[in-house]
Amino acid sequence: MAYGRLGVVRKIHVIGIGAGDPDHLTLQAVKALRSTDVFFVLDKGEVKSDLTRLRRDMLEAHIPEGTYRVVEARDPERDRGAGGAAYSPAVGDWRSARAGIYERLIAEELGEDESGAFLVWGDPALYDSTLGILEEVLARGAVAFEYEVVPGISSVSALVARHRTGLNRVARPVQITTGRRLTEGFPEGVDDVVVMLDAHQTFRRYAEEDVHIYWGAYIGTPDEILVSGPLAEAGPRIERLRAEARERKGWIMDTYLLRRNPEDA
Ligand SMILES: C[S@@+](CC[C@H](N)C(=O)[O-])C[C@H]1O[C@@H](n2cnc3c(N)ncnc32)[C@H](O)[C@@H]1O
Repeated sequence: MAYGRLGVVRKIHVIGIGAGDPDHLTLQAVKALRSTDVFFVLDKGEVKSDLTRLRRDMLEAHIPEGTYRVVEARDPERDRGAGGAAYSPAVGDWRSARAGIYERLIAEELGEDESGAFLVWGDPALYDSTLGILEEVLARGAVAFEYEVVPGISSVSALVARHRTGLNRVARPVQITTGRRLTEGFPEGVDDVVVMLDAHQTFRRYAEEDVHIYWGAYIGTPDEILVSGPLAEAGPRIERLRAEARERKGWIMDTYLLRRNPEDA
């Protein structure tokens, strides 16, 4: 079934809201927030409710009460146990399940002349599936809409800013990757690597090498923890702080930059 009147197209903003500090919100993001009628918030479960709260606080801080609606939906569970070759199909199934939810939210909760928004953590272009899911919804053809993307301050930008360092060295490359990929070694020809989505503290593999780490957890929030130094010394400290914080809050989000041979220009 196709939803919608011919020629009427709903508008959607995908808004990067920064990595945790309400002040990360850009003026462009605030403008987009103010032109939105319906906010879609996908709840990832109890442990992430802090993040849902933060989004609601941002709305309350920047938009007059009573001028918008918030529609919450539960994110489908992702099969995180799937490893190796099974990893991609698991992500694919999860995306399709989310596409079904987004399709229903847009079709049923957004009036044809209204505009909606998805608030995305950090920057929507970096390790986030919202854009891919919206493309999948459009491809299904059941609901029509136009969408725009508002960039946000990513956790990567926030991390290096807090550590007052750059991402790359002069004329050298930097790579952003995942903990899973880092288990395969440093990328070919790259000595500066940003690691995200690492539940296993993969940096430990490099403790014997000349590597400097810039680590941050809950960056931009009141719980922020920052550690930097040679990996051999900083690594054990990070492990301890990480375990304590995870125990205390029930969840953790951390990102780090590994710099190999830090004395090289
Ligand atoms: C699904 S990705 C989303 C990244 C997001 N789009 C961005 O631009 O930062 C989630 C990962 O981002 C990193 N991350 C996001 N927010 C963070 C924060 N406030 N502090 C530390 N790491 C963060 C962590 O590596 C986490 O595992």
